[in-house]
Amino acid sequence: MKINGIHYRTIWPHPSDERTIRIIDQRHLPHRFVVEDLVSVQDVFTAIRDMHVRGAGLIGATAGYGMYLAALEASDSKSIDECIEKAAAKLKSARPTAVNLSWAVDKQLEAISTGTSAREKISIALQTAKEIADSDAEYCRRIGEHGVMLIENISRRKGGKPVNILTHCNAGWLAFVDHGSATAPIYAAHDKGIAVHVWVDETRPRNQGAALTCWELGNHGVPHTLITDNAGGYLMQQGQVDLVIVGSDRTTYTGDVANKVGTYLKALAAYDNNIPFYVALPSSTIDWETEDGVKEIPIEQRDPDEVKLVEGWCEDEVKKVRICPENTPAANYAFDITPARLVTGLITERGICNAHRDSILKLFPEKQKR
Ligand code: MRU
Repeated sequence: MKINGIHYRTIWPHPSDERTIRIIDQRHLPHRFVVEDLVSVQDVFTAIRDMHVRGAGLIGATAGYGMYLAALEASDSKSIDECIEKAAAKLKSARPTAVNLSWAVDKQLEAISTGTSAREKISIALQTAKEIADSDAEYCRRIGEHGVMLIENISRRKGGKPVNILTHCNAGWLAFVDHGSATAPIYAAHDKGIAVHVWVDETRPRNQGAALTCWELGNHGVPHTLITDNAGGYLMQQGQVDLVIVGSDRTTYTGDVANKVGTYLKALAAYDNNIPFYVALPSSTIDWETEDGVKEIPIEQRDPDEVKLVEGWCEDEVKKVRICPENTPAANYAFDITPARLVTGLITERGICNAHRDSILKLFPEKQKR
């Protein structure tokens, strides 16, 4: 994605010092574009936990580079494998719901274990981190290629009138290394000259829709309108939504979808109004062990202050204001589960399938348990 004409990924090694990993610190967007340097496992842990980086794919890619920094840090120690294992456990604990985090850490552990010296382990870890980031970007590009057909079909049916797509949270370029998942088909359609318009849910409490999705779409010139989280149902009833595309932080191999809290309510409204509801995700987001998403996926609960305080730009600085009485108890469930039966289909890097075990395993036959 281009920012002021310069192509950026959301994470990259420093060009003149690969011991430093650079990220866009998303806490400052859309008000300021800040690049942060990560030089230790602790930096990576903090960046994931405190959401300097966020979104399933980017959390995974950051954890991949975190494991490379872990190998660098461990190289001075006598018990190198133990140090790396410790760092892996620490990184995995940073955020519980996005499965890309443990996927990337486990991929690194397996790769690093093949190295026979500290030097070799470091070099394998760097190479693997780059591969995780590259494959994330490439898979999202392919999600765009597959998903654009859905938009093209609707556009044809509407005689070229804008296709209205509703999305929740930010499953965009900023949530991955490039392209995004839910946004990839949208960018692909826009780039092909298909008229699209995006309804962007603000996505309380952290407002990733308002702050991040609007910023991204605006930078790419995609027409969009910010709406409150509760407006989607009404717009669907009024025929103003042709298609819903959201991302996912974890999807079971049976098709249950964990995504930013509020997604389930959008799926219910879409179902009631006969509107296709698609989930775009790379296979690194599929949880191949969990069968029942509602019962088994851990849902992150974050600081209640994220609910009680709202952050915004005021008189040239970011300010936080409280929106409820001071001692109000608040709960902050960060994700919810949309059961497979409400999902029209999954858009993956290998194509589109039903949110159903057989259909998913048909696309990924190597995951079939013997
Ligand atoms: O808490 P976040 O911002 O890390 O939440 C993740 C998300 O951005 C969304 O749930 C998104 O829709 C799926 S992640 C690609």
